[in-house]
Amino acid sequence: MIDNPDFSSHIHTTFDQILNREDKEKLLKQRSLVIWFTGLSGSGKTTLAQNLEKELYKKGYLTQVLDGDNIRSGINNNLKFTEEDRLENIRRISEVAKLLMNSGIITLCSFISPTKEIRNMAKSIIGRENFFEVYVNAPLEVCEQRDVKGLYAKARRGEIKNFTGISSPFAPPVDFDIEANTDKKNIIELVEEIMNKIVAKIEYGRNN
Ligand code: ADX
Repeated sequence: MIDNPDFSSHIHTTFDQILNREDKEKLLKQRSLVIWFTGLSGSGKTTLAQNLEKELYKKGYLTQVLDGDNIRSGINNNLKFTEEDRLENIRRISEVAKLLMNSGIITLCSFISPTKEIRNMAKSIIGRENFFEVYVNAPLEVCEQRDVKGLYAKARRGEIKNFTGISSPFAPPVDFDIEANTDKKNIIELVEEIMNKIVAKIEYGRNN
């Protein structure tokens, strides 16, 4: 063994070569965040997420929307609507959202996420400090009245099992960051309210 007292000159750390969240945020000039929309089917989660995304895009932020119907037709197409599958659905989505967040991207997740257990799991995977929860709240009667996809009618006829709000529970969140009453306020107002609350979290400070 060669005795080399000046061994520090042979150590080549790679810390300066590993790109982390901070580096990506610096590149994008934004702070990343996961914005999580929870609520009944038809409450307006995806519409709100899409409109918020457009507003963020206009202001120069890089974003990605993840939503139930798209994810369930791709990466999660083997999952159904049992409690167990919903939990697995949200677990995978949370891991994907975390990857995007660690790449500096503001990630908008639009999923019913019907129980406290499910939402807590998402929060613990993503980290509470990175998680901004929007409770998209419209009464069941309103969602059923809207029935954009015709699913409530099918659920009432018994053609869809375990339908949220009809034959499967939705436990309203209590510890959300903002409530969006889509039956009382219009989309422009709601997007503005959310923007006002998240801007300090996503703005890339002048000194960093
Ligand atoms: S979650 O409960 O696991 O969070 P997710 O948001 O991914 O649900 O998917 C909900 C979407 O799937 C609904 O908007 C609706 O279009 C569709 N869907 C089909 N079957 C059901 C069902 N049994 N319950 C709720 N949504 C359903």
